[in-house]
Amino acid sequence: MMSLSRRHVLMGSAALAAAALLPSGCGQPPGHLKDLAKRKGILFGGAIGPEELADTAAHELVSRECGVITPRNALKWRTLRWDRSDWNFTEGDAIARYAAANNQKMRGHVLVWNPVENMPDWASDIPSGSAGRSQAIQLMETHIEQVCAHYGDRITSWDVVNEAFEPYSGDLAPGFFMDRIGPDYIEHAFRKAREAAPHAQLVYNDYMRWSDKYPNHHKGVLKLLENLRKKEVPIDALGIQGHIGKYYGTENDRHWRQFLDEVTAMGYDLLITEFDVRDFAPTADISARDANVAALTKGFLDITLSYPELKQFICWGLSDRWSWFRQSEPREDGQLQRTAPYDVDLKPKPMYAAIAAALITAPTREPSTT
Ligand code: G3I
Repeated sequence: MMSLSRRHVLMGSAALAAAALLPSGCGQPPGHLKDLAKRKGILFGGAIGPEELADTAAHELVSRECGVITPRNALKWRTLRWDRSDWNFTEGDAIARYAAANNQKMRGHVLVWNPVENMPDWASDIPSGSAGRSQAIQLMETHIEQVCAHYGDRITSWDVVNEAFEPYSGDLAPGFFMDRIGPDYIEHAFRKAREAAPHAQLVYNDYMRWSDKYPNHHKGVLKLLENLRKKEVPIDALGIQGHIGKYYGTENDRHWRQFLDEVTAMGYDLLITEFDVRDFAPTADISARDANVAALTKGFLDITLSYPELKQFICWGLSDRWSWFRQSEPREDGQLQRTAPYDVDLKPKPMYAAIAAALITAPTREPSTT
């Protein structure tokens, strides 16, 4: 079995030391994350889905910690439009009611997500290639109009386009819209989104690794952002998903800062939209694993939150109880991944303390108006 890298051990110690400096360590939250964030002008929140809606313990946690929530899957095409002739807003509406009842903002995820597997099966009736271009544009634009009209100003920030690139080549990836409309599907989506949601923040959302493993992906996104600016396409911010940890290469702080410098120099705001940490440290020792996750958390956030353009920070679930990794990426030893700030019993972990510590040391910024 490999040992944990020296860097992670050192970073883990630093995160734990930072956690120890917090008023009540990591056993007791030092304050609600939404309040710690708000003091710095950052809107903090989490993604939720049917699991959280059905779990009364989750309600207390999510309302206490989150100033903003985002539906994990409720606003995706396959949820909203599984049926060709019928829309299903049930889960999205339940989340919107939840946000309103708790005085939380709501982000929208996602209007356009290009891979064919993210589209309802019936959409494949539209022919591929240029033969399907006008139909595909119409389908996409009508979708954007109807979803935005349904939620109106209740959704203050939208992921308009998600994950458009092939990570290795940095080229736009093939997929439902790319194959029928071509590269300008992105431009069409943002222009329609501005018409349909004139007050919302419009975001291009992507993985954006904190490593140099996919340099072409970073280059591709920078080129896209630059071209969209030149063409005056209405886009306000880059959403950095922030699923960090294994599979994403070795962290490279210099490379990461350089990327963020270039994005912000173009005048874009930043968001962390889907934060969690893959818990693949090769040890069964839970405290070592938690320290590793906390260290990665602190290392990533210290850099990313240092940008005053970063105004929102959202975890892809607050607790391991509802983590998507449970099914999608099990650990080799069969143990449950510990990827979120709270464990399955809704107790805060060192990752929670690392987030709190990073928020405490982050510079203050002008809060987002969206
Ligand atoms: O709802 C059905 C359920 O009825 C059925 O019994 C079950 C059987 O597998 O599937 C359920 O749907 C699954 C859904 O999650 C809810 O659990 C889908 O198959 C599964 O594909 C879907 O996965 C989601 C994935 O996006 C694809 O939409 C994950 O929950 C969600 O965490 C993940 O989120 C993405 C972001 O949208 C974009 N960035 C990356 C991130 C992680 O992959």
